[in-house]
Amino acid sequence: MTTIVSGSASQSLAAALARELGARLAPVEYDRFPDGELFVALDRDLAESSLDGERVIVVGATASSDAHVELLCLQDAVREAGASELITILPYMGYGRQDEAFEPGQPVSARAMARAISSGTDRVLVVTPHERDVCSFFEPTATAVDGAAVLADPLPAALEDPVFLAPDAGATGLAETVRDAYGRGTTDHFEKTRHSGTDVEITPSNVAVAGRDVVVVDDIVATGGTMSQAVGVLQDRDACRVFVTCVHALLARNALTRLWGAGVEAIYATDTLERSVTTTSVAPVIADVLS
Ligand code: R5P
Repeated sequence: MTTIVSGSASQSLAAALARELGARLAPVEYDRFPDGELFVALDRDLAESSLDGERVIVVGATASSDAHVELLCLQDAVREAGASELITILPYMGYGRQDEAFEPGQPVSARAMARAISSGTDRVLVVTPHERDVCSFFEPTATAVDGAAVLADPLPAALEDPVFLAPDAGATGLAETVRDAYGRGTTDHFEKTRHSGTDVEITPSNVAVAGRDVVVVDDIVATGGTMSQAVGVLQDRDACRVFVTCVHALLARNALTRLWGAGVEAIYATDTLERSVTTTSVAPVIADVLS
């Protein structure tokens, strides 16, 4: 019997994955010590009697430093309970965008996180990492899982001559994946120059969008700067409806206000991060990779 253990921020995805796999969902207690440190505990009966020699999957999005610590503690508790195989699923890998030292003196933060997570697991799955190369930072085998295909699921069936647009060249593959899953439409991409964490400049292509529905596809929406700039260009060019889709709706600061304020028709995201705009689950694609 496979058991799924969830981080506190990934409970819905863990439950969906348990359903997909026919696995048991472990009760977990999340709390804090009086000094503010995190406390997690597996259900005592489960830990004492039924994880010995079992395959256990720990699911934990690491969108915060606390979530990183919580994941390491859960891995330790699962090992302590005698699991024979421990698979760690990172629905969202925090610090994944700091995948190189961009200036002398900077850490490769993605590698530092990967090393810590590696020490407690036999295998890692990372859903749509910002760069697939981060998988090489893990010591056990790490596999990238493509979460983009499910982004086509919530789109209206009757999109008008749709364009699937990547707001920068790096997201082109994602836009193609969503277009292929949707079944029709063209793809295009803009170019992006990032001036700071919040300031981006979009250089549009000459794609003709007037009267067409546009689906903008990215891996992450963080501050919403990239998406809102892209949406602004599309509105100026008389696009019909503009839909925003992303795998990871990080939604830092006032991202939602920026997007709705830019005039988007709808925002769709997966459950790698559990947000108000979560409309579809990556559980089936994770289950496919595991089976
Ligand atoms: C970066 O290249 C990523 O693919 C996203 O475009 C970026 O993380 C989005 O960040 P923001 O929403 O802050 O513009």
